[in-house]
Amino acid sequence: MLSEPASSAALYPPTVPPSARALPLWLTLLRFTRNPLRSLPRAVYETDIVAYGRKRPLVAWVTGSDLIEQVLIKRTDIFAKTRLDRRVLKPLIGTGLLTAQGDHWRWQRRIASPLFRPNDALAYVPVMAQAGREQITRWRAKGEAHVAPIEIDMTETTFAVIARTILAGIDESEAGEIQRTGYQFIRPIMWSVASALMLTPEHWWYPGKSQMMRAAAENRAVVQRLLDKRRAAGIEGDDLVARMLQARHPDTGAPMNDEELIDNLSTFLLAGHETTAKALTWTLYLLARSPQWQERVRAEVQSVTGGRAVTAEHIAHLTVTQRVLKESMRLYPPVPAMTRVNLEATELGGIALPEPALIVIPVFAVHRHKASWDDPERFDPDRFLPEREANLKRTQFMPFGAGPRVCIGAAFAMTEATVILATLLQSVRFSWDGTHKPEPISRVTLHPKGGMPLTITPL
Ligand code: HEM
Repeated sequence: MLSEPASSAALYPPTVPPSARALPLWLTLLRFTRNPLRSLPRAVYETDIVAYGRKRPLVAWVTGSDLIEQVLIKRTDIFAKTRLDRRVLKPLIGTGLLTAQGDHWRWQRRIASPLFRPNDALAYVPVMAQAGREQITRWRAKGEAHVAPIEIDMTETTFAVIARTILAGIDESEAGEIQRTGYQFIRPIMWSVASALMLTPEHWWYPGKSQMMRAAAENRAVVQRLLDKRRAAGIEGDDLVARMLQARHPDTGAPMNDEELIDNLSTFLLAGHETTAKALTWTLYLLARSPQWQERVRAEVQSVTGGRAVTAEHIAHLTVTQRVLKESMRLYPPVPAMTRVNLEATELGGIALPEPALIVIPVFAVHRHKASWDDPERFDPDRFLPEREANLKRTQFMPFGAGPRVCIGAAFAMTEATVILATLLQSVRFSWDGTHKPEPISRVTLHPKGGMPLTITPL
């Protein structure tokens, strides 16, 4: 059962109840494959570090801000990205920017970085607003008030944005195929994660494996097609594809080969739309559950834009809108967990970690930690009023991660979510059916169990 106190003015939206204590390995794995958040013991929400495995810790869940700072920012020479991420995601995104290490990562990050300076995101605002308006047109075409599958609709909207900005020139007609194969890859992914955690040989079977591998191969074939079309159309421009096609390795002078190009195209296609879609999906759910906040945001959008299209100048003034988005990403972080591994035996928070131990930072629990947040399960966007936000540590609220591997698309995503949310609220009211309380499920990104049906009413 999902825990949710009886209704009152305060909103306590769905959460995942922790287990009272650490469970035996078989039960942990079983719960893990259904929803990794269900395998988290209660102590993870209350203390700084919890180790699994008494004599020789295999897994350490780290949720205290100071310890997270050590792992992600201060001791990155010891705490590295895991082979786990790479093993699980490799069939789909190879060793692109998200999964690469060392020099290979540095080179790729340097190629992409100039496209992601905070001010550059503002140049894309007209495209983002247009994608929002197109979604409204699709809803209007279905007539008056009706139930819409918000999770799917937001994925379509954010895909259009990435295809017309960072990956400009990508043929959008392939969107359906990219999404279908991406979804088929992700659906059984927790079995793949569980077998990687148990260090089983990579060629061993697990449920859904052949479907995953087929979906990954199909996905990469579509991306290869997109790349070929783009090459044929010419490589001018300053989008990521053009930058990658023109880049030369600083040591060897060699261009990126096709595999490296596909790794990165697939990485940005996946990381660049799925996460923002989830942020918008959960935000619309919270606003449907809290009509007062929905009206407050709509009133702000109306007063800032005067009912016209959202522009770059409006962004800094849409402060309530952004407070709501941040509170939504606190309660429902689109990337609910991150992992690292220690490259040598070390000590963390008084616990001796042998090499290698798996360090899990369950952002979902960090954002609901009892020592860091007052009444953590409650939806309260005012936590992000400027004077209160200034007191938050950088590893206390961290939907985009922290340290050198922090999300390269953070400013882009915040701008995009603000523009799309504001554009949608200008024209549509979102309401809740009074019953749907979706369990948040961790499948690399945070999915609502049973999807996100909301009633939309054109204004
Ligand atoms: C609300 C939206 C988003 C969220 C919550 C999010 C979250 C994250 C997080 C937590 C990481 C760090 C993972 C780790 O350290 O293990 C990350 C990395 C990354 N994100 Fe995002 N992301 C979002 C949007 C985007 C967008 C729009 C793009 C691209 C356009 C993007 C591209 C990437 C890439 C390429 C990395 C790897 C960076 C590196 O390792 O150097 N993300 N993201």
